[in-house]
Amino acid sequence: MNHETDFHRQKIVEVNSQVLSDVPAVRALLRQEGYIADDSLSTALFLSLKLGRPLFLEGEAGVGKTEVAKVLASSLGRSLIRLQCYEGLDVASAVYEWNYQAQMIQIRLAEAGGVKDQSALEQDIFAEKFLIERPVLRALRPHAEGPPVLLVDELDRADEPFEAFLLEALSDFQVTVPEIGTVKAAAPPIVIITSNRTREIHDALKRRCLYHWLDYPTADRELEILAEKAPNTPSELSRQIVSYVRKLRGMDLFKVPGVAETIDWANALMQLNAVALDPAAVSNSMGVLLKYQDDIQRMAGGEAKRLLDEVKAELAANPSNA
Ligand SMILES: Nc1ncnc2c1ncn2[C@@H]1O[C@H](COP(=O)(O)OP(=O)(O)O)[C@@H](O)[C@H]1O
Ligand SMILES: [Mg+2]
Repeated sequence: MNHETDFHRQKIVEVNSQVLSDVPAVRALLRQEGYIADDSLSTALFLSLKLGRPLFLEGEAGVGKTEVAKVLASSLGRSLIRLQCYEGLDVASAVYEWNYQAQMIQIRLAEAGGVKDQSALEQDIFAEKFLIERPVLRALRPHAEGPPVLLVDELDRADEPFEAFLLEALSDFQVTVPEIGTVKAAAPPIVIITSNRTREIHDALKRRCLYHWLDYPTADRELEILAEKAPNTPSELSRQIVSYVRKLRGMDLFKVPGVAETIDWANALMQLNAVALDPAAVSNSMGVLLKYQDDIQRMAGGEAKRLLDEVKAELAANPSNA
């Protein structure tokens, strides 16, 4: 590791140490903004901030990967710079591109004004004012409120060449714009990379990062999330909802419900004035939980009711001590 990288690490560590002294401090910070993190996620975040290393968060859709980056940024008072990945994402959309139209106008104006000096014109049109900064470049610029949070969301959707590029940019927190020069972050951003694991991310990139597998929450934690995000749900109903959703996650469905669906379901059931789960309420609101016709069909014909009976029996055997 070279001295410069060390220097950068030091910078990040200084900035973040001011706010976060230990793992519980991280958990409390997220809690303030309504995010319920367990010990292992709080520890991963804490270490990522302290060591100045990107955090690579992998997990199923809907487990709270994107949300944790958003909440981290807002609770630290930093700006969130989000790079949503997709197939075909290229450097022009991720880092920078030239404002071609504005350059053309400049050229026309120069021509109309009778400018003959070609190289001066070229210098003119490749000036910073014609540069359109995309997320990666923006994240390297100084920010008055402190280094931003750069969220590289759903990296598994981007192509492998983009991954290689990202690795390079994250290795020394700099990018080179040939016409202008190298832009290097004075204080590097806090980087969170997420993947839904539709494909494996290359080892080289993972090695640059701290890795954390974000699982579905435990029942207790999901109840806490419901208390936070759908606070008017009666507690018995919340227990039934959480227990039911957990059963669905254990089934072989095309797409099982995430935490967002749990919250939506609670809100939907409240709208239907349900105080407890019953077969009609469950089947009428199934479209909040399951978004594929095949899955919904699977649950029709008694299956939904069977799960409900299981949930009720289990909760009766294990009454809440709250
Ligand atoms: N630990 C949590 N605490 C509070 N809300 C959460 C938590 N995990 C998930 N959520 C809720 O679930 C929603 C979906 O999470 P999201 O971050 O979009 O999932 P992912 O990015 O992993 O697909 C969020 O908008 C948030 O409301
Ligand atoms: Mg997401």
